Amino acid sequence: MGKRPEPSALARIGIAVEQKLLNQFDRLLERRKYENRSEAFRDLIRAALIEERVAEDDRPVVGSLTLLYDHERRLLSEKLTAKQHEHHHEVVSSMHVHLDHHNCMEVIVMRGKAGSVRRLADSLISAKGVLFGKLTLAEPPV
Ligand code: NI
Repeated sequence: MGKRPEPSALARIGIAVEQKLLNQFDRLLERRKYENRSEAFRDLIRAALIEERVAEDDRPVVGSLTLLYDHERRLLSEKLTAKQHEHHHEVVSSMHVHLDHHNCMEVIVMRGKAGSVRRLADSLISAKGVLFGKLTLAEPPV
């Protein structure tokens, strides 16, 4: 019979911060609706650790890429679709939204090694006519 895993014990730390910086931090926490500084610090630490790990090319990651572009730009939609077909192993799914008469938003969910996901995202973002592009990487839960 397996033992129930113990909840990880909390370690307490004290840190020194300039008052001005702390005030700015507290205002940020208020805007983001944090109930206390500890939870905000934990999130900052987790985000920094993830950022560090997904910088490694061989790390398995999941990601979402948001693109905004004008679909009337000659051949752009075809080019973006062709690139995704070329990398169908990394592209899990995509959603296309017709924002208005000209503009499209595409959200592409990707999965694979950080290096190849990043390269694919860069090649889509840098296509001529793409007005905005942002990739968010995360680690798949183990
Ligand atoms: Ni569209």
